[in-house]
Amino acid sequence: MFLRKIQSSLQRLKSIRPVVTARRNNTQRKGYVPYGQTGCGNYGLTFSPQTVQLMNPVKDKLLKLVPGIPFNEHVFNIGDYGTGDGATSMTFLKELLDILKERHGSERQFQVIYEDQSLNDFNSLFRRLSGVIPDPPPYLLNMDNVFAFATGVHFYKQCVPSDSMHYIMCMIAAHWLSKTPVLYKESLCIYPDSSAEEKKALRDQSLSDWETFLLMRSRELKRGGILAVSLTCEYVDETIGRISFTLQNLVFLMTHLWREYRDTGKITNKEFINTNIAYCHYNMEDLKAPFENNTSAVWQSGLRLVSSDVVINNDVFYSAWKEKKDLEGVDDRDGFVRAYVAAHRNWSNSIFMDGLSDDRSREDKLKIVDDFYVDMQERIASMNPDAFRDDFCLNYLIIVKE
Ligand SMILES: C[S@@+](CC[C@H](N)C(=O)[O-])C[C@H]1O[C@@H](n2cnc3c(N)ncnc32)[C@H](O)[C@@H]1O
Repeated sequence: MFLRKIQSSLQRLKSIRPVVTARRNNTQRKGYVPYGQTGCGNYGLTFSPQTVQLMNPVKDKLLKLVPGIPFNEHVFNIGDYGTGDGATSMTFLKELLDILKERHGSERQFQVIYEDQSLNDFNSLFRRLSGVIPDPPPYLLNMDNVFAFATGVHFYKQCVPSDSMHYIMCMIAAHWLSKTPVLYKESLCIYPDSSAEEKKALRDQSLSDWETFLLMRSRELKRGGILAVSLTCEYVDETIGRISFTLQNLVFLMTHLWREYRDTGKITNKEFINTNIAYCHYNMEDLKAPFENNTSAVWQSGLRLVSSDVVINNDVFYSAWKEKKDLEGVDDRDGFVRAYVAAHRNWSNSIFMDGLSDDRSREDKLKIVDDFYVDMQERIASMNPDAFRDDFCLNYLIIVKE
């Protein structure tokens, strides 16, 4: 019902086509601050049932390719960029290190460099690596000659010395832009009915950021080194024959609810305009473009595309709800909604906190945002999960440095 309301109001907005003057925002975004108490491993606890599954489309390919990377030096360097609290990659890295050790000998040395921005919850990462948070089991405890480090330098800069990395992965992170490209006036991020100026600002920023991201990784990689990236996308959903983007239903719902907060005076219009999601749903053509032009800076730097795939992954929270309903006859909507919202609050909470005016006290901001997520839960609970279901489409690229 609510979903239909969102879709029909979108349709109405489309037909009105308001002329919105976009204001360029030159300020650095305040940052993606993970939700939850530092050190408690909230990200992995609530989101990793989904994020681990999102690695599956490239996992086997990488376990085959990475051991073939030329390795004649003393130390094999692995990077996990935009790592979060390290929960998603832990089991994959154990498998990869097992294979690499078998291939190169257990006396060879391996470094894992965890990268994320400075505001990341590195405390949880270290607690996971040392086993204080024991699940998933950390590979570091039982492996000799494996060393782990972290850097808080963001990935639009060079993060490690040139020509030092054998393998870098960056899973569901590189769609976060270096800054908010524009203050979206009527939405939180790009919307089907966004103005031409808003669309252009996002496009310019995202193409420039993608190029910068690739050029930085190119400097860091050794010849023969591999870069694996997954990021959110714009894609054609063949089941409905329309262009969609990752987590569209969730983001439409967030936008509608935040508009209601504005329209009922819970937040000001200025706060609404200041609330922006600084990401881009890249379409695969744009991501591939630098690899298809031999005069591009990316091509000239030696990066070549090995594979590119757009994959619709199941929403694990929906699937768990459906399985319980079909197999046990239990319609646990509350369980579904709680797990779903807890998972997605990780990446979205700071967006709403950042939008609120600094004239408000921290307590006031926390209350507004807490109420917002309670309202979100209630709205989703009132919908049929089959209609709300948001499968998780991602772009996957594997790239080699020649
Ligand atoms: C959705 S999480 C992904 C975490 C993990 N890679 C995974 O697959 O579950 C996105 C991560 O990207 C990080 N991130 C966002 N912008 C970044 C930047 N400019 N540089 C480095 N990391 C960034 C966030 O801090 C966050 O940890």
